[in-house]
Amino acid sequence: MIDDAFLTALPKAELHLHIEGSLEPEMMVALARRNSVAIPFKSVEEVRAAYSFTDLQSFLDIYYAGAGVLRTEEDFHDLALAYFDRAAADGVVHAEIFFDPQTHTHRGIPFDVVASGLFAGIAAAEAKHGMTVGLIMSYLRHLDEDDAFATLAQAEPWLDRFVGVGLDSSEVGHPPSKFARVFAASRERGLKLCAHAGEEGPPAYVHEALDVLHVDRIDHGNRSLEDHALVARLARAGMTLTVCPSSNVALRNVASLDVHPIDRMLDLGLRATIHSDDPSYFGGYIGENFRAVAAARNLSREQVVTLARNSFLGSFIDDAALAGHLDRLDAFVKAH
Ligand code: ADE
Ligand code: ZN
Repeated sequence: MIDDAFLTALPKAELHLHIEGSLEPEMMVALARRNSVAIPFKSVEEVRAAYSFTDLQSFLDIYYAGAGVLRTEEDFHDLALAYFDRAAADGVVHAEIFFDPQTHTHRGIPFDVVASGLFAGIAAAEAKHGMTVGLIMSYLRHLDEDDAFATLAQAEPWLDRFVGVGLDSSEVGHPPSKFARVFAASRERGLKLCAHAGEEGPPAYVHEALDVLHVDRIDHGNRSLEDHALVARLARAGMTLTVCPSSNVALRNVASLDVHPIDRMLDLGLRATIHSDDPSYFGGYIGENFRAVAAARNLSREQVVTLARNSFLGSFIDDAALAGHLDRLDAFVKAH
């Protein structure tokens, strides 16, 4: 068994985190009060009790409802800083996080309010923790491509500050090809491309993310394991899969952590990493994901160090920053 303290302090990058999914029940109740927003829960305990999911959609329904308490720049700042405080305590030295602009603009919150608040939280975290942060704007795939284009237009003044775009929300029935044009337009603007694929959707969606969207990173990707040719292709390409073990169990895509395929992915030569997805809803931040899956799968020290190394290799930082992170990771491993 690897020491929990080692797993927590192990330097790592967070590459798959929805900032709206870090809204803790305490903050949800406090912001509902601060903003006079009605929520269908009387207490923090009632919010927590509602967190029992049968699949992705049953989670998304509660996740979008919860985000309704976020209204002001200050709310987005507070949300982001609370997340970065937890991430820093879990050894995160670099984070590339998602936000869902349409979740907010569709209920009348201006894009600029969301972006200003998040960037204020990011600046505070960079100063406080010395970490680096990139922001990824995710398109909601249950909406149409025109809506994604409208979002890209709203994002125009901010585009040079975003590192990339993503694709999330209800996967089945909304294949990557639905967003081919807006992903091409996003790449033309210099943005990196990520897409959730193979979380609940079939391996064909992972193929589409590669062939039609030309993504730089696959989020989740678990169902790639059903397609041997796809696994070989992902391994050959060195494509990063941002895997989220607690999320997989909470959304019933994997029966339990005891049978989680993270080590099989590594054995197959996939560049898999470990992340937290929506930690407030799924029971743990990145450190807890490392500790829980390492214990459940009896991972070796070498395997967890590979997972941490992969998180830097899969990030969108430049070569000099990457070399620095890998050197510091090696030094940490030598010293512990
Ligand atoms: N939005 C937030 N979390 C998500 C997930 N796990 N899958 C798809 N969309 C999401
Ligand atoms: Zn996700």
